[in-house]
Amino acid sequence: TSPSAPKPPLPKAELHLHIEGTLEPGLVFALAERNGISLPYATEDALRRAYSFTDLQSFLDLYYALMDVLRTEDDFADLANAYLARAREQGVRHAEIFFDPQAHTARGVPMGTVIRGLARALDGAQETYGISTRLIMCFLRDESAASALETFEAARPYLDRITAVGLDSAEVGHPPSKFAEVYALAREAGLKCVAHAGEEGPAAYVWEALDVLGVDRIDHGVRCMDDERLVARLVADQVPLTVCPLSNVRLRVIDDLADHPLPAMLDAGLLITVNSDDPAYFGGYADDNFTAVREALGLDEEALRRLARNSFRAAFLDEETRATYV
Ligand code: HPA
Ligand code: ZN
Repeated sequence: TSPSAPKPPLPKAELHLHIEGTLEPGLVFALAERNGISLPYATEDALRRAYSFTDLQSFLDLYYALMDVLRTEDDFADLANAYLARAREQGVRHAEIFFDPQAHTARGVPMGTVIRGLARALDGAQETYGISTRLIMCFLRDESAASALETFEAARPYLDRITAVGLDSAEVGHPPSKFAEVYALAREAGLKCVAHAGEEGPAAYVWEALDVLGVDRIDHGVRCMDDERLVARLVADQVPLTVCPLSNVRLRVIDDLADHPLPAMLDAGLLITVNSDDPAYFGGYADDNFTAVREALGLDEEALRRLARNSFRAAFLDEETRATYV
């Protein structure tokens, strides 16, 4: 190889990735055409111009609107295959993928259609892309606790396909404790538990996710830095945080990438991973986030390797499989 050949991306696990957030404009238009849906955008470029967000809710409004093009098993399989192809180019070797069933069942798309479609792509992922996969079913926290319970029951026939439950959507005003009952059921069923907490919401929501829901990882969690005692707890228990730097900037959780608390979080001894969240919307996939933090925050090779190693440490892998990655 020539000295100027670009280095291959570091092998990594992606642990915070909403499959609906990988819906690129090209696929939006292709699926709209296939399903006979008319879009309020004339061109892909016109759609892209709508990707300017002021906060989490302004993003969620577009995210939920565009996923209306996802109707059939084939649509979900195509979506997941497109993500896996991109992820492979970014050095992703293992992906734990969120999906939002309520955003589909509420539109009349059955749970089975969503899970069978995603599973079809994931089943072939090791062979086709060299990526091992897990599915994480998220509850929409701005929907009721009763709706989360109904969703969990609707998913019972498919629980052998699901590794963990998660909690996402509009955070403020919807504390983790609202979902104590469904998390208890998930744990009884042998599932792992994660929750978005401390993205726009306060450090108190991270405490609740730990102490009321009993989560195994925190998604985002950047607001933990407001609370020294919380940081000490997260460090002592080595609770992984799935941080999403480009997302934080696009949703204005952080003003500027150069001000991101990632270096301080690493220095504090937190178990940090770097992830892409909704890469079609936030301007980058997994390795693009690594590159962005290297450039904006001056992280050296050792720090980047630590982040990649952390991603496998924090993954829901059995120890024998984990040893093949780290
Ligand atoms: N936060 C909360 N809910 C979400 C996100 C996010 O970044 N992406 C998709 N659903
Ligand atoms: Zn997220």
